[in-house]
Amino acid sequence: MMLSIEGLSCSYGTAAIIEDLHLEVNAGEVLSVLGRNGMGKTTMVSAIAGIRPPEVRRGSITFADRELTTMASFEVARLGIGLVPQGRHVFGSLTVVENLNVTARPPTSGAEPWTLERVFDFFPRLAERSTSFARNLSGGEQQMLAIGRALMTNPSLLLMDEPSEGLAPIVLGAIRDRLLEIKGRDLSILLVEQNLGLALSLADRIAIMGAHGQIVWTGTPDELRRDEEAKKNHLGV
Ligand SMILES: Nc1ncnc2c1ncn2[C@@H]1O[C@H](COP(=O)(O)OP(=O)(O)O)[C@@H](O)[C@H]1O
Ligand SMILES: [Mg+2]
Repeated sequence: MMLSIEGLSCSYGTAAIIEDLHLEVNAGEVLSVLGRNGMGKTTMVSAIAGIRPPEVRRGSITFADRELTTMASFEVARLGIGLVPQGRHVFGSLTVVENLNVTARPPTSGAEPWTLERVFDFFPRLAERSTSFARNLSGGEQQMLAIGRALMTNPSLLLMDEPSEGLAPIVLGAIRDRLLEIKGRDLSILLVEQNLGLALSLADRIAIMGAHGQIVWTGTPDELRRDEEAKKNHLGV
């Protein structure tokens, strides 16, 4: 097992958001966590990535046998968790190349390393825009940059929070095809989404987060495709 969340409770001040969350990501798998707006998906991502707030009240998050809940975000990143945050958060006043180099790290495993060259092969659009300031990129280009920046840390777990947000279908399709190419191999992916289509096409397993950050449904993409009740009750689609 790659990542294990056990009995996690998180809050912002006195507002309890996640209560007693249990979730596991296995090595090499793509797990997608779906859920309506405001259920606590980003709160979970922040707790994993060591971003504060939220405060972790109870429970544990272990990754490669290390406890994450007491770590700072840079320590979590150093362990091999690459974050693609919701809203992309690229460094607007840095160029594409600078964004990619600023958090770059050599690989810790024997996996084929991500380098500037490999990221540019992976997203040729970024190569074309390499000297542009990130703030001048389109939303799709910024999302590619956010993914490229995370890959440059040579992660063993890629943590993506709503990469589909605000993207035109054609751009999203292109990004989905790239992610399909790298899934499996030496990379586990935790994909947080509201976009059912992206989750269905990428995930090996899907978990749906409901109120209080509880996992209310788990299964395979095929099982979710067929489960009209689950889609209606938990996702509103
Ligand atoms: N920094 C914050 N301070 C206080 N409340 C927050 C903060 N961030 C999120 N929340 C609240 O926590 C709940 C879960 O938010 P979030 O984790 O962003 O949900 P999701 O990602 O599933 O849409 C929401 O009610 C939201 O208003
Ligand atoms: Mg969110």
